[in-house]
Amino acid sequence: MFSFVFFELQVSVALGCAYRGRTIAFASTFAAFLTRAFDQIRAGALAEMNVNLIGSHCGVSVGEDGPLLMALEDLALFRAIPNCTIFYPSDAVSTERAVYLAASNKGMCFIRTSQPETAVIYTPQEKFEIGQAKVVRKSVNDKVTVIGAGVTLHEALEAADNLSKEDIFIRVIDLFTIKPLDVATIIFNAKATGGQIITVEDHYPEGGIGEAVCAAVSTERDIVVHQLAVSGVPQGGKPQELLDMFGISAKHITVAVKCIVMD
Ligand SMILES: *[C@@H]1O[C@H](CO)[C@@H](O)[C@H](O)[C@H]1NC(C)=O
Ligand SMILES: *[C@@H]1O[C@H](CO)[C@@H](O)[C@H](O)[C@H]1NC(C)=O
Repeated sequence: MFSFVFFELQVSVALGCAYRGRTIAFASTFAAFLTRAFDQIRAGALAEMNVNLIGSHCGVSVGEDGPLLMALEDLALFRAIPNCTIFYPSDAVSTERAVYLAASNKGMCFIRTSQPETAVIYTPQEKFEIGQAKVVRKSVNDKVTVIGAGVTLHEALEAADNLSKEDIFIRVIDLFTIKPLDVATIIFNAKATGGQIITVEDHYPEGGIGEAVCAAVSTERDIVVHQLAVSGVPQGGKPQELLDMFGISAKHITVAVKCIVMD
């Protein structure tokens, strides 16, 4: 099901289809329009409905379509829904696995997808599980753990490549699911990199990945979280320019890493 305007009706129909497990229902639109269906979403969650929602074109990386289409608060919205599973895949393989896992998972699922074409980083054999992050870059010399998802994972990988030419090594984690969060992997890798974490997300800081990670490590001594997120009101432009303008590009990750390493 796909609609721009009456998405709240589409969600209602999907909830009806999913009622008592009659079908595996998926409803899909731009993530920005899911806010319109928040009433249906929270009611569906209360009824423990087995419905799957896909929000595409998230974040400033939508680019030229303009700020109204940029979902920058959808993670906050779905994180607040009890028992909602949130997938944030980063390439074609992980997106396909997210759809498969959502279809087989009970309860509400949200899949956040991105507009820009991203390189495929996983082989088709890669195994994905709900609540299991992937460590995609790792060496014994890593000084910082950078946590990304979607487009920002690719920015983190570019930063890692460029920094390695200057003998600065970083660990890179792809969260895959934002909820449940893979707390064990985050803490283990943070401790292995001097307790330093940088989160980078195409979302407002409030209710996003950075805050989820902060909450997860809040009882750990000696872990520091530096957050890169979209602050300020977005505007239209080319996707890469906007990632730069709003401080979540490879360039900003590189600067943030150097600040920590030089400190
Ligand atoms: C929903 O989440 C709560 C708290 O995390 C948990 O106790 C409960 O078992 C969950 N319910 C379902 C249906 O998964
Ligand atoms: C990374 O290196 C490539 C190739 O040298 C360069 O084109 C790119 O601008 C660099 N990125 C950053 C963020 O410095």
